Amino acid sequence: MSALRVNNLAISLDGFATGDGQSLEAPFGHAGERLHEWYVSTRFFHAQDGLPGGTLGVDNAFAEQHEQGFGAEIMGAGKFGPPNWQDDPDWKGWWGPNPPFHTPVFVVTHRPRPSIEMDGGTTYHFVDAAPSEVLEQARQAADGADVRLGGGPTVVREFLTAGLVDYMHVAQVPILLGRGVRLWDGLESLEDAFDIEVVSSPSGVTHLTFVAKPR
Ligand SMILES: NC(=O)c1ccc[n+]([C@@H]2O[C@H](COP(=O)([O-])OP(=O)(O)OC[C@H]3O[C@@H](n4cnc5c(N)ncnc54)[C@H](OP(=O)(O)O)[C@@H]3O)[C@@H](O)[C@H]2O)c1
Repeated sequence: MSALRVNNLAISLDGFATGDGQSLEAPFGHAGERLHEWYVSTRFFHAQDGLPGGTLGVDNAFAEQHEQGFGAEIMGAGKFGPPNWQDDPDWKGWWGPNPPFHTPVFVVTHRPRPSIEMDGGTTYHFVDAAPSEVLEQARQAADGADVRLGGGPTVVREFLTAGLVDYMHVAQVPILLGRGVRLWDGLESLEDAFDIEVVSSPSGVTHLTFVAKPR
């Protein structure tokens, strides 16, 4: 069975995966780019932008897993666009005409619309369904490959609560955001369901991996 994996989900020390006040101008609200400075510094990210250089080492080793072995992505409405993007019939995500997914992407939203085919193999499908049903659709589309659960925190929390996540990599960044959307709320004793490993990077980021115990 293909795995449902979360990779490179960045949170603050106080558990926020995005800041307060998300908007078209500020996709991460008052967090700005602070949650992702480690990620955009990596060689993996540089290469995606066609840039030379970038850090090697622990952060890069985790970052590049973002691309490995996925045949579909699931993301939340809050990741796909700013609040109320559903009111804009022309909104096609943040990522331009050739998005970096190159697979089917299942956007969960209570206000679905017809699918949109983009360049480079990405097709956005809009789904209003329970997590288990969305995962079933994504797995069929992934055709044996893994499914990436791309965030944001609300959707990751829903899939964790439903016991559907097989692997999760969280990058804990040494900042305190104080407000925004927290990953951990309502997930008391989550550690019982996972084997957890921790790796520290010289950048100050702590990488935590959660591997689901046999269910
Ligand atoms: N730190 C990171 O690594 C990282 C990664 C990804 C994203 N982000 C950031 O996280 C933020 C978005 O996260 P978020 O927690 O606000 O939102 P989100 O998890 O992206 O999406 C939540 C929304 O998805 C819809 N939804 C969720 N489950 C559904 C279901 N089963 N059926 C139908 N619709 C469903 C609902 O929207 P509607 O009711 O409006 O349809 C819900 O409010 C953005 O700022 C993004 O940039 C951060």
